[in-house]
Amino acid sequence: MKSLAVYIHWPFCKSKCPYCDFNSHVREQVEQERWKAALLAELRHMHAQTPDRRVSSIFFGGGTPSLMPQDTAGALIEEVHRLWPTVDGLEITLEANPTSVEMANFTAFAKAGVNRVSLGVQSLRADALEFLGREHSVDGAKAAIELARTHFPRYSFDLIYARPGQTLDEWADELEEALDLAGEHLSLYQLTIEENTAFYHAYKKGGFIMPDEAESEALYRLTEQEMLVHGLFPYEVSNYARPGEESRHNLSYWVGDDYVGVGPGAHGRLTIDGVRTATQTLKSPERWLENTEKQGHAIEVWQPIDHTTEAEERLMMGLRLRSGIDYAGFMASNGWDLRTALDAGKVALYQSNGLLEISDTHLRTTLQGRLVLNRLTAELLRTA
Ligand SMILES: C[S@@+](CC[C@H](N)C(=O)[O-])C[C@H]1O[C@@H](n2cnc3c(N)ncnc32)[C@H](O)[C@@H]1O
Ligand code: SF4
Repeated sequence: MKSLAVYIHWPFCKSKCPYCDFNSHVREQVEQERWKAALLAELRHMHAQTPDRRVSSIFFGGGTPSLMPQDTAGALIEEVHRLWPTVDGLEITLEANPTSVEMANFTAFAKAGVNRVSLGVQSLRADALEFLGREHSVDGAKAAIELARTHFPRYSFDLIYARPGQTLDEWADELEEALDLAGEHLSLYQLTIEENTAFYHAYKKGGFIMPDEAESEALYRLTEQEMLVHGLFPYEVSNYARPGEESRHNLSYWVGDDYVGVGPGAHGRLTIDGVRTATQTLKSPERWLENTEKQGHAIEVWQPIDHTTEAEERLMMGLRLRSGIDYAGFMASNGWDLRTALDAGKVALYQSNGLLEISDTHLRTTLQGRLVLNRLTAELLRTA
């Protein structure tokens, strides 16, 4: 039975962080019963399209899903179990912000079935939390990590580095502290300036200066080195885990498995009658709710993807992974033989430049390659 990962999007936050371009919104009031019923309805609709599957993971993302009533999360988890068979030890992740309101609900979320929490700590420095517009303090973050450790079998937290003015020594110190607090997984993202965010406008006006390429590279190298020393393997560009403790849900995206996306603006990739299909729901929370109440779903895009686009997507995702792309698996999923589909001259050049590593069975990026991943992938695809 083909596996299926289930993503559920909760689009609300207490405030909008200046760097964030996720589909997240601040609303004075959320009609909780309507939202619960609509999310359940869209989940059932997705099941009707994908009945013969085994669910391999559930991920509550956002927005801030830890602000979701626990009985909504519980009802959705129960409904997944009622609709599909699931794998043993189903991974159920909740993204949470380290504020006291959300921490108070950890017991109830654990009781509802959540067994992995991903905390948005973002920094262990007070000035950085202020710059990032976060609502929690350093002590609050540490308390949340401790609570996550005691309430859930698995926990991870996110940090944002390569911040304006951050030196290598400062990051090394912060990372040391983070490693003392870490469990089996960490997500470490370099700050990116996204269009349509408050940071974008401030940056364009010269409000702050971002690290240059050489500084970002040095910070990235230091990060990988430190993680490896502490036994956290860099299994994806920004994700580090002890072996076997990777996020199974996120791995589904990167290896090209099928997933459904429920809730406003959620994406999905489904193989239906052998055709890979891209799905997306309406982004606006209000329009999503209205449409779902009317017709049981708010799917806006249901688009078969041609083989070339599918292969390109899989290449982009696969190169993010340290384990790389397995030629045989790639060929089986979309018919592309990567050994002949890509320009041999370019591949050889990038291999000799130390950006790609090639074995009889795999194509993978080196650390140097991951530093220029977007440009490298674009170049490979231009010749494919
Ligand atoms: C869906 S978001 C946030 C989930 C949760 N609401 C929170 O704030 O913790 C997931 C993660 O993406 C990262 N992120 C979001 N925007 C970013 C940006 N512009 N640059 C770097 N990392 C970013 C943050 O670390 C964040 O925790
Ligand atoms: S970073 Fe998290 S809390 Fe901040 S606006 Fe984005 S989703 Fe909401």
